[in-house]
Amino acid sequence: MTQGDAEMTDKIGIYEQVFGMELDAIMDAQLKLQVDLQFDTHHEFLVRHGLNDCRKVLDVGTGNGSFLIRTAEHHPRTHFIGLDLKDNMIALASTAAADAGVTNLDWMVRDICDGIENQDGASIDGILVRFVSMHIHRKIDRVLRNIFDILKPGGHLWGISVDASKITGNYPSGAFDAYRQMFERANTKFDIDGRIGGALPGKLVEAGFAVEAVEMDPMSKHTVGISNYQRYFLHEIAIYHAFAPEHVTDEDVEFMRWFVENEVPLQEYDGSHGLVMMSAVKP
Ligand SMILES: C[S@@+](CC[C@H](N)C(=O)[O-])C[C@H]1O[C@@H](n2cnc3c(N)ncnc32)[C@H](O)[C@@H]1O
Repeated sequence: MTQGDAEMTDKIGIYEQVFGMELDAIMDAQLKLQVDLQFDTHHEFLVRHGLNDCRKVLDVGTGNGSFLIRTAEHHPRTHFIGLDLKDNMIALASTAAADAGVTNLDWMVRDICDGIENQDGASIDGILVRFVSMHIHRKIDRVLRNIFDILKPGGHLWGISVDASKITGNYPSGAFDAYRQMFERANTKFDIDGRIGGALPGKLVEAGFAVEAVEMDPMSKHTVGISNYQRYFLHEIAIYHAFAPEHVTDEDVEFMRWFVENEVPLQEYDGSHGLVMMSAVKP
């Protein structure tokens, strides 16, 4: 078998794996892949912006907890609290933490839009909001004020979110633009604001924070490797297709699959996923 044959077999393997999987399994795989691919960049950003100084950190909208559990493993002397609206997410997260033997964590089921009581006289000195603001964009001003109130003066706020206006690529077929449009149409259906990453720094200032840094996460095929990147894309397409079939046609899926196979591996082309990382301090 030539190297080209081996690569093709590997690609077909990825297609079959992804499109043959149950939706839940694809979503789990994508959450895990996202943390695998982005953990180092996001964790390094948090450390550069004060995480090592924190003793109690709240993760708002922690989801399945995989990012927080990994962070807690790196900072055994810091106590972490993962908060989520959904009790099934918190159940997954606490089981995963127990399985991993990570004990410097607590979990809380709460709607952050309802506010949260001041923990032990504002002892929280770090708050993470990772991929959550887009879901609560209509109430984001109130949420940021709530977060401001429970954070200790001098405490850190880290936000990681998408700015869809910064999803750009130079792929010749226009498939990357089609992907961006698919993302925006599906988000509209689910009332998700995929552009909020660009608006958040201004909103943090309005809520009273001093913004310290706003950086783009450089995630691309050049930073994560081509096969990881292909897998990432195929998961996204499969998930959007399942959730918003009226916005993602079978032709869209075929176009994306063609793109992932043919254009993504070409070295000269690349794209940005518009992931914005920001840090702020409560004065
Ligand atoms: C895309 S996931 C992000 C999970 C995790 N932060 C991560 O980075 O992998 C968004 C999470 O926010 C939670 N969420 C959405 N609205 C919320 C709210 N009002 N209060 C608390 N959690 C919320 C959802 O239940 C979901 O688990």
